[in-house]
Amino acid sequence: MADRVYIFDTTLRDGEQSPGVRLNMDEKLEIGRALVDLGVDIIEAGFPVSSPGDFKSVQTLSKELKGVTICGLTRAVPKDIEVAADALKPAERPRIHTGLGVSDIHLEKKLRMTREQGLDAGVKAVKLARKFTDDVEYFMEDSGRADPEYVYRVAEAVIGAGATVLNVPDTTGYKFPSEYGSLIKGIIENVPNAGKAVISCHCHNDLGMATANTLAGVLSGARQVEVTVNGIGERAGNTALEEVVMALTIRREFFKVDHGISTTKLLAVSRLVAQRTGMLVQRNKAVVGANAYAHSSGIHQDGVLKDRLNYEIIDPHLVGAASSEIILTARSGRHGVRHRLMEMGFAFPEERFEKIYDKFLEVADQKREVTSEDLRELVEVVQ
Ligand code: KIV
Ligand code: ZN
Repeated sequence: MADRVYIFDTTLRDGEQSPGVRLNMDEKLEIGRALVDLGVDIIEAGFPVSSPGDFKSVQTLSKELKGVTICGLTRAVPKDIEVAADALKPAERPRIHTGLGVSDIHLEKKLRMTREQGLDAGVKAVKLARKFTDDVEYFMEDSGRADPEYVYRVAEAVIGAGATVLNVPDTTGYKFPSEYGSLIKGIIENVPNAGKAVISCHCHNDLGMATANTLAGVLSGARQVEVTVNGIGERAGNTALEEVVMALTIRREFFKVDHGISTTKLLAVSRLVAQRTGMLVQRNKAVVGANAYAHSSGIHQDGVLKDRLNYEIIDPHLVGAASSEIILTARSGRHGVRHRLMEMGFAFPEERFEKIYDKFLEVADQKREVTSEDLRELVEVVQ
């Protein structure tokens, strides 16, 4: 049997940290319900100590959402952990996510701690968190720019203290896939008790590598991925849930892992998150963008109309899209135009069709897209 990769969704925590995004309680609950329905394993619902609003949302989601682990973020600070434990009390499956920086940059310039102090604070935080729940995740912030030898020491110490999930964030999106994959592999091979924890990938997209890095982590043995819907998040965002899930689905033979996501709900969840956050999805976004299953050039339209497999690796139905789209533009060929006319109920003899096609090209040179309405008008004009 293939291994299972756990999908840890942080749309409501790291995703909500996107500049300009603020979700109210009803919106968080609506998105939380949609995520449960989608099949995510863990929902990071917020950072309870950060504000009364965040406390309330972690508490409410803990109360309302069943069949899923609810996670609250904390710094490695006793007050944070106690407040998170309080907010998570109603949860069926509560998880405390605690941790602190492991790069020298973070230790020296942000935390003003030595490596030893950082390690000690982390161990104490895990031990305290374990008093409230058996499910404790430890994040080693900025692992991507840290000394791997120190990362291994922290990992061993926090797993020894009771961490059940070890999060390896590339907080600044600095790593390249081969490097991030090696980091995960290095942890698995060099940390004697690594087998006692699930290793988790948490990547940011500053260099556009978040999805590739996360998948490299999975190939190296990580079994949890931390993702957001549409890849929203701090700065250039987090790893996009839909991209990782569809890569694991379409290339299942390559990754040889399973996940619990109902992929046919991906598009609806993407639209819901875009609407509620106001973070619009770019048209050419992988998997859920408006153009992801649209074909515009004549060569591609001809190929897709002969057999979808010529140019599509994802069946649009698999993500909940109605079908592939043929977009009529100045680059469209006869096959595309004839196909659209047929969909509209028209079948013209060759000579008339050629006249229509010539007129179509004239119109298409003036417009970005020729709609069915334009085509109908054109058919009436060309006799
Ligand atoms: O990017 C990061 O390091 C984080 C941690 C708080 C998990 O979001
Ligand atoms: Zn993050």
